[in-house]
Amino acid sequence: MIATHAERLAAARAQAYALPLAELNPARPEQFQNDTMWPYFERLRAEDPVHYTAESNYGPYWSITKYNDIMAVDTNHAVFSSEGGITIASQDGEQGPLPMFIAMDPPKHDEQRKTVNPAVSPFNLARLEPLIRERAAKILDSLPIGEEFDWVDKVSMELTAMTLATLFDMPQEDRRKLTYWSDVVTAVPGQGLIDTLEQKFAIFTEYHAYFTELWNQRVNAEPGNDLISMLAHGPATRNMSPREYFGNIVLLTVGGNDTTRNTISGSVLALNQNPDQYAKLRANPDLITSMVSETIRWQTPLPHMRRIATQDIEFQGKQIRKGDKVVMWYVSGNRDDTVIERPNDYIIDRARPRQHLSFGFGIHRCVGNRLAELQLTIIWQEILKRFPTIEVVAEPKRVFSTFVKGYESMRVVIPTRV
Ligand code: HEM
Repeated sequence: MIATHAERLAAARAQAYALPLAELNPARPEQFQNDTMWPYFERLRAEDPVHYTAESNYGPYWSITKYNDIMAVDTNHAVFSSEGGITIASQDGEQGPLPMFIAMDPPKHDEQRKTVNPAVSPFNLARLEPLIRERAAKILDSLPIGEEFDWVDKVSMELTAMTLATLFDMPQEDRRKLTYWSDVVTAVPGQGLIDTLEQKFAIFTEYHAYFTELWNQRVNAEPGNDLISMLAHGPATRNMSPREYFGNIVLLTVGGNDTTRNTISGSVLALNQNPDQYAKLRANPDLITSMVSETIRWQTPLPHMRRIATQDIEFQGKQIRKGDKVVMWYVSGNRDDTVIERPNDYIIDRARPRQHLSFGFGIHRCVGNRLAELQLTIIWQEILKRFPTIEVVAEPKRVFSTFVKGYESMRVVIPTRV
């Protein structure tokens, strides 16, 4: 018999509290895939908020699980460095980690971030808004009524891929390549999408070649308003190596794709699991803005970011050593009841809905956060005009990862139009 989600969670809770604390290792992708990681974090926040796991598939690492401690680490980049990688899994290929500005410290990080920032400036977002709205409307108008379909594929992936293709100024017909490449970047070999690391690298070669072509086109043309032109002409990036260019493309593809896609899907799921909140939203569409932020907190599309300690430091009574891996579990901090009231509940009209960790803090705080919120706001404004409800009809299939918290598929039915 297949266990229900509630049964799986109860079993995970029993296990999480039965384990000796020293053996607790919250970085298990299978628990994220089953959505059963919650009790492990709950216990850590209560009993050992700065926790050391001596043995794991990712080697030894520290877990930071409470809201204010995560803020303290995230805003102290001198001691907690991003250089060389920001995932719990080290990216130690033959050539070392792929360089990209999320995985750099100042001053290089700051210069490269400044180069792409205009793509998501208020001016550019205002320019994008009507385009995103037109596309959202078209996507929603093409959905079947009274028939089951995959919301992830037909809506979440489509809208976010279209926006990202516009930011890169690449042909719209290639947009789903972005979705595919982004999934390949975060895929674990043997867990569905790809079987081996070699296969991953072969797909990377194709992905790299596609973007090299775009660089070659843009570098010899007048600078445009797109991310590739900004990188090809920006003083801080125009002389970077092909590998570093590719690293930044990977960053922008994954950053601009998975996260927003999974929040769009997450919003449909959260409203289904909380029909009182869905009714509140329908009665008052002005709540869309706070619902969007609440969903970003509730979903936490990137459950963690990792740092490396640059020096020995005592932190909350624990001795962290130079070179140690320090993992900030945003997914846990967002459920910290000493900072957020009733954090396990989904409440679309919270007093301070933007109080969450999902975009990080400090110098790496998400550069695309306003663009993500804009896409979510528009899709919901357009949904409410068209459909009284979207019904999730089966448990969604979740991603096998501790870095991306999201959905491979989500079966839904739209019973009727407004
Ligand atoms: C950085 C989350 C949407 C591009 C980050 C970080 C997080 C995050 C947690 C790292 C923060 C830190 O280390 O302190 C999210 C979430 C999103 C989202 C939850 C959607 C709901 C986007 C979009 C873009 C984007 C739409 C594309 C334009 C980036 C980039 C960085 C980043 C380029 C690196 C910033 C830096 O290192 O300075 N994001 N993101 N993100 N995000 Fe997002």
